[in-house]
Amino acid sequence: MNRVSLHFEILNSGAAGRRGTLTLPHGQVETPAFMPVGTAASVKALPQHFLEELDARIILGNTYHLYLRPGHELIRRMGGLHRFMSWPRALLTDSGGFQVFSLNELRKVTEEGVRFRSHLDGSSHFFSPEHSMDVQIALGSDIAMAFDECLEYPADRERARKSLDLTMRWAARSKAHFDAHKHEAPWVDELEQTPNLFGIVQGGMFADLRRESAERLVEMDFPGYAIGGLSVGEPRELTREIIADTLPLLPADKPRYVMGVGYPDEIVEYAKMGVDMMDCVLPTRAARHGLLFTSEGRLNIKNRRFAEDQGPLDPECSCPVCQRYSRAYLRHLMAAQEPLAAVLNTLHNLAFYLMTMRRVREELAGSVPSI
Ligand code: GUN
Ligand code: ZN
Repeated sequence: MNRVSLHFEILNSGAAGRRGTLTLPHGQVETPAFMPVGTAASVKALPQHFLEELDARIILGNTYHLYLRPGHELIRRMGGLHRFMSWPRALLTDSGGFQVFSLNELRKVTEEGVRFRSHLDGSSHFFSPEHSMDVQIALGSDIAMAFDECLEYPADRERARKSLDLTMRWAARSKAHFDAHKHEAPWVDELEQTPNLFGIVQGGMFADLRRESAERLVEMDFPGYAIGGLSVGEPRELTREIIADTLPLLPADKPRYVMGVGYPDEIVEYAKMGVDMMDCVLPTRAARHGLLFTSEGRLNIKNRRFAEDQGPLDPECSCPVCQRYSRAYLRHLMAAQEPLAAVLNTLHNLAFYLMTMRRVREELAGSVPSI
């Protein structure tokens, strides 16, 4: 097991961001990368071969959802999440922390972990850092995330301090348990590599707490670092400020991931600040509501003004939807509540997000001198 399981090569780096290649057990990811969210072993409405055609290199799965249904032990028996869902490329799993905190009103947090009720049937469950690691190892993601507490917004300093301390103790427990058990992931013998665990910076909206969180995590030595606790209702200017303040505290030679962002202009802005990875439900969720992102801005395809519009959704988009279907047809599918509406809208929105990141990478390749 001497082969490296994560290799991050920075190809260009400068004031306007950085471009690189992240090599994982299940393939290469060109960074900065946008990662589509596939909560329950499915990027909602899109089959895996469409994601491959869009050249998505890495997608997300969720520990919380897959633990509840169909269960991580079932997925382990099916050969792991890659094989179960027939996704040969890289996978990242979120630890469940965020989902437990956002979906569950009836949760109880203790030093040991979180007790919560299932959003499916109300049954009671307990997640600890160790249990989250066991679930993620059973799923066999290429990148697992530390179990953290995603602090609510707004939160006062005392609350942020306590939450940060708990998250740092949970990060240490996550890492110890992960390192002791990562060899149990389903594909370890076949690929002769192991999964990787990233740490998550928290600390609320307090610059000094964020700094402390970053320093304590760097001390623990993770192969990559995420910035969490953002996009929780704070003004965008504050999101930007926290990212800008935190990035320089993280090791420059390791991937840096901002969780749960954002609109197309935000992901461009953050990529140009030096963020390597981002994920967000926005393109997929908005698509199912008829909200589409185009080179001319956002539009709601349900709007009556598109009823007889024979033009493409986005004249500048080269995706299969924009090549073939009219705005009038897409509006009709939404109005008639046809399932195809969700498929086509999601296909376009994800194509738009992935193309947006590809453009940023091309810009970085062309204009920024290599170091
Ligand atoms: N997704 C978006 N924000 C967060 C966060 O703070 N923690 C985790 N685990 N996932 C997230
Ligand atoms: Zn398109």
